[in-house]
Amino acid sequence: MSHFPEPEPSGLRRGLTSYGDAEFSLFLRKAFIKGAGYSDDALDRTVVGIVNTGSGYNPCHGNMPALVEAVKRGVMLAGGLPVEFPTISVHESFSSPTSMFLRNLMSMDTEEMIRAQPMDAVVLIGGCDKTVPAQLMGAASAGVPAISLVTGSMLTGGYRGERVGACTDCRAFWGRFRAQEITKPEIDDVNSRLVGSVGTCSVMGTASTMACVAEAMGIALPGSASAPAVTADRVRIAEATGTQAVALATAGLSPSAILTPEAFENGLRMLLAIGGSTNAIIHLTAVAGRLGIKLSLDELDRMSAETPVLVDLKPSGRYYMEDFHRAGGVPAVLRELGSLIKRDVLTVTGRTLGEEIDDAGPGFPQDIIRPLSDPIYPQGSLAVLRGNLAPGGAIIKQAAVSPALLEHSGPAVVFENAADLAARIDDPSLDVTADSVLVLRNIGPVGNPGMPEAGYLPIPKKLAAQGVKDMVRISDGRMSGTAAGAVVLHVTPESAVGGPLRLARTGDTVTLSVSRRLVQLEVSIEELTLRDEELGPASPEVPDRGYRRLYVQEVTQANEGCDFRFLNLPVAKPRRSL
Ligand code: FES
Ligand code: MG
Repeated sequence: MSHFPEPEPSGLRRGLTSYGDAEFSLFLRKAFIKGAGYSDDALDRTVVGIVNTGSGYNPCHGNMPALVEAVKRGVMLAGGLPVEFPTISVHESFSSPTSMFLRNLMSMDTEEMIRAQPMDAVVLIGGCDKTVPAQLMGAASAGVPAISLVTGSMLTGGYRGERVGACTDCRAFWGRFRAQEITKPEIDDVNSRLVGSVGTCSVMGTASTMACVAEAMGIALPGSASAPAVTADRVRIAEATGTQAVALATAGLSPSAILTPEAFENGLRMLLAIGGSTNAIIHLTAVAGRLGIKLSLDELDRMSAETPVLVDLKPSGRYYMEDFHRAGGVPAVLRELGSLIKRDVLTVTGRTLGEEIDDAGPGFPQDIIRPLSDPIYPQGSLAVLRGNLAPGGAIIKQAAVSPALLEHSGPAVVFENAADLAARIDDPSLDVTADSVLVLRNIGPVGNPGMPEAGYLPIPKKLAAQGVKDMVRISDGRMSGTAAGAVVLHVTPESAVGGPLRLARTGDTVTLSVSRRLVQLEVSIEELTLRDEELGPASPEVPDRGYRRLYVQEVTQANEGCDFRFLNLPVAKPRRSL
């Protein structure tokens, strides 16, 4: 049964303010667009904007033309008028200094272009890591009915009989190359085989995580997160998304009606159960912030204690997104999570999540999505750490830590910044053992604008050559969702704004205790106070001009979502048509 009310008038009349006389403004608007050959019949219909984030620099969105065409078909099947428009596109590997640096810019572009142009609903086509959060942030602020459509994952490739996929296996093979287990010609050959097609990373990295979380929050169609980019399923999902966008427009159901606190709780449960990316916490905090909802790290940690990992995907597990799709995808995980999921929340279908879960039908035998009674890992994938190194919190992907390092104390080897790390990590004379704790500072949102995914510090070459695979690593930066290890991330507050991470010195003992949720510098408070006084007040460098200046002045810390302060506010009133 649909909860949608009756249709209401809409279309090109939205946002008519420019020329004083509203009817003349509409007359002008229609005159111009008729230059593109539209009829009055077309222009009088419900308008669905389609955000096209295709770009030659974004292979994760390489199926954009097919998706846009299918969404348009779906909109027209429902009697609406589809109008595509571009925003910026952000790919992980082609965004300098980082894609995270550009996420907020993309969110502003998305918000303002939705608001500026007349549309009754919008289809947000994104996929690569930062694009889905940027679009949800922008759409949440714009307030226009919105539905998310992801581009879908890439296919896996093969190397000498071994199935491979980006980019967990990129890291694994590079690690083998660094350890001199494979040769230069071999690693060159691997390079051509890691990515089997266009689409987003084939593991449970940030892109897949955000796709699953968006579906669990009800802002994307049920069953839409997991279909690979180049499949018929993906194109059919695009068509259905277009059709649903017309219904969403008719209902005037804004993102704030769907993205409620309960929906975010479902999103966090999904994040924990799929063994999702640490980055997603920052993104969800930012999206929630746009709606005046505060996500608490302590609440996440509480949920983690009771939400086991059910999905056996890389980077911490064995399988890939295409397997997850065949196993039933997000609806199957939601069904297994049972009473841990809030069922009464509204989705973009106009039905509740509970109704959608029931409709998805029963499960079938497979070993990729496990039942609650037989999880992959007994708790959620993520844990929130605190201690004198991270009074504002830090994150660890506990499900991906080598068991021997879950409780560990060792001497710190401190790197001042990313350049210092690059210069010294492979120095044969570096005083480091497998028991050392690698500490990297000044890679937080302000200290290294964009908060690079450099928190996954490489194992020093000489140790890698001895077979060392994992070490405790601590930083105020991020880690790629496709990486795994004993890596403490998002240390807050960051060192560049005066956080205690700046007080660590090489040789200090550092303790990581995941069971006690602790990351601690074993140095007396008196000594730390003395070091703090010696360093004086933190004075982060502020660039002279442009977006970079805006970023450094306005970005919030990781526990607040790294959004800009002036964006991280709910919009006062919902948008209405004339
Ligand atoms: Fe785009 Fe991984 S690089 S999703
Ligand atoms: Mg990534």
